[in-house]
Amino acid sequence: MDLVDAAYARAESSGFPMSCERPVGQLLATLAAAVRPGGNILELGTGAGVGVAWLVRGLGERTDVTVTSIELDPATAAVAATEAWPSFVDLRVADALSFLSTTLLSSAAGAFDLIFADAPGGKVEGLDLTIAALRPRGILAVDDMRPAEDWPEDFKVRQDGVRRTLVEHPNLVSVELDHGSGMVLSTRR
Ligand SMILES: C[S@@+](CC[C@H](N)C(=O)[O-])C[C@H]1O[C@@H](n2cnc3c(N)ncnc32)[C@H](O)[C@@H]1O
Repeated sequence: MDLVDAAYARAESSGFPMSCERPVGQLLATLAAAVRPGGNILELGTGAGVGVAWLVRGLGERTDVTVTSIELDPATAAVAATEAWPSFVDLRVADALSFLSTTLLSSAAGAFDLIFADAPGGKVEGLDLTIAALRPRGILAVDDMRPAEDWPEDFKVRQDGVRRTLVEHPNLVSVELDHGSGMVLSTRR
C-alpha cells in the first residue's frame, strides 16, 4: 500500500477524524513538488500522518528536501510514527508555538519554503510566528477556510479571523480557493 493510502487507513483504524481531505492533500503534493532543492517543508499538526504522506508523495524520488511535522499529542504522534518514513522526514512531538518560537530565535529563522499550518497553534494562535517562519517567496497553506453548516459559531468566527489575517496581511500575497475544505494559499513577499 502506498504512503497516502496507508496513512488514511491508519487514521481510520486509530479513530483519528481530522486528516486532511484528498483534494487538500493533492494540492500539498503539488506544492511540495515545487520546493527548491535543499528546501524545507513544515507541517503544524501531524495527526495520523496523512498530510506528511501527501507531501512525500509530491516529492517523488527526491531526497533533497526536509519535511518536519510537529504534533502536540504524544498518542497521536505515536500513530503517525508507526510508518517507515523516508529519512528526510522528521516527526516531532512538541507544541507548534514552542517549535516556532525556538526556530525563530535560532539561525533557522525564515527557513521554510512551504508550511501547512494545520493545528490551532501556529494557525489560530501565533499565526504571526508561522508567517515569520516562511522564507521570502515561501508558501503557506491553510485549509478549513470555508465555513461548514455544522461548525459552532465560535469556531466560524475563529476560522474567519485566520482567513482575514492571511488575506489582508501586508507581507503576504494570498488567494482564497474553493478547494477541498476551502483553502488560503499565501506567498511571503
Ligand atoms: C487537523 S489535525 C492535523 C491533520 C494533519 N495535518 C493531516 O493533514 O492529516 C490537527 C492536529 O494538530 C494537533 N495539535 C493541536 N494543537 C497543537 C499544537 N499546539 N501544536 C502541535 N500540534 C497540535 C492535534 O493533536 C491534531 O493531531
